[in-house]
Amino acid sequence: MTTLTVVMLTLAVAMVTLAVSASAQRPPRTDIGALITGAGYPLEEHYVTTADGYKLLMQRIPRKGAKAVYLQHGLVDSAATWLVNEPNESLGFILYDAGYDVWFGNARGNGQSWEGPPGCDPSEACFWAFSWDQMASLDMPAMVAYVRATTGSGKIGYIGHSQGTMMAFAGLEPGDAASIAVVAALAPVARVYHVDLGPFKLVADLPTKWVYEILGHGEFNLDPATVSKLLPAVCEVEKSLCNEIVCLVAGCDSANLNKTRFDVLFEYFPSPTSVQDIIHFKQGVNTETFQAYDYGSVSANVAHYNRTTPPLYNLAAFAGKVGLFSGGRDKLADPTDVAWLKSQLPLDAVVMDKIYPNLGHADFVWGLNAHTLVYPDVLALLKAADWE
Ligand SMILES: *[C@@H]1O[C@H](CO)[C@@H](O)[C@H](O)[C@H]1NC(C)=O
Ligand SMILES: *[C@@H]1O[C@H](CO)[C@@H](O)[C@H](O)[C@H]1NC(C)=O
Ligand SMILES: *[C@@H]1O[C@H](CO)[C@@H](O)[C@H](O)[C@H]1NC(C)=O
Repeated sequence: MTTLTVVMLTLAVAMVTLAVSASAQRPPRTDIGALITGAGYPLEEHYVTTADGYKLLMQRIPRKGAKAVYLQHGLVDSAATWLVNEPNESLGFILYDAGYDVWFGNARGNGQSWEGPPGCDPSEACFWAFSWDQMASLDMPAMVAYVRATTGSGKIGYIGHSQGTMMAFAGLEPGDAASIAVVAALAPVARVYHVDLGPFKLVADLPTKWVYEILGHGEFNLDPATVSKLLPAVCEVEKSLCNEIVCLVAGCDSANLNKTRFDVLFEYFPSPTSVQDIIHFKQGVNTETFQAYDYGSVSANVAHYNRTTPPLYNLAAFAGKVGLFSGGRDKLADPTDVAWLKSQLPLDAVVMDKIYPNLGHADFVWGLNAHTLVYPDVLALLKAADWE
């Protein structure tokens, strides 16, 4: 069986899952709050409405009056990502224990809230007409504003992983710098041109039209139960692809994951997103720039952007302060692309730049040594930030 066949099979399974799961007005697909209460921490849940009418569920471990931090998960992920390890190993709990008021964001379409604008429920293609552009321009600002308004904070801290860092790099307008004390960018991603990941590169090579024909224009949902069943089969026939998937999902240093915790992990991961979000990443692998979604034709781009090509995001205009936390073995936030990102940001924006040679993409959230290796640096970044 060729690698391509395996990928096509995976996509086919994703499609079947899609058909099964397309029903309206579902409750949150997973109970992330249970991870918080189960560990004995206080929980609040808040619904935040975006300017275009999506409702986003945020979980909070409240510490009223304390400095507020907003954590934003990555691609096909959810707020659970900050909470799946033991409390003293998971960044969400560690931040609370360190005295912060901790807020967890969920991007549109990730299964935590299924409510879209009127007439666009999840069974309609219009619900899924988004990529990380809209997470950056609409979800992130709505959640930042909500957290600030609810807590009365002048400034909050922003912690992103992977796509959650793209949302900051693409979405923070120069005027927002005043409301963000500092951005901690874990496995930072802007352009993904050097992505070194078989499945991504293979999909990137397929014509966009085909991918849309296979997957449709709606939800991209790799059902966790399907993935945990499919993965051993993929590993049986394609050792190197299997390694790459495990490396992406779990970190490349297998000694660094708690395999006995996999059942908890796969209860929450992966989360759904839109096919358009996946296509936007596919486009990213094919371009050397950090740019908005390409609608595929001059007329469609003009209709959306009033220009023939997608606009570029201007990293040189980034007005905030950021700490970069990157892994030498990260195949998605490839070290070459992270170096490029750093070179594009204003010199005085990068206040911390840590490279951990052995860490892969997911190690920053799930790695067993993240709490000893990375999180003390994140806490130091927050502590040194200007919150006034
Ligand atoms: C984390 O907590 C467990 C018990 O809940 C304990 O055995 C372990 O030593 C703790 N680890 C750290 C790094 O504090
Ligand atoms: C791994 O997960 C199991 C099950 O939750 C837990 O009992 C154990 O303490 C974890 N090991 C480490 C090193 O965190
Ligand atoms: C579209 O772009 C043209 C030329 O750049 C400009 O003159 C026009 O005002 C723009 N239209 C809108 C609606 O922004």
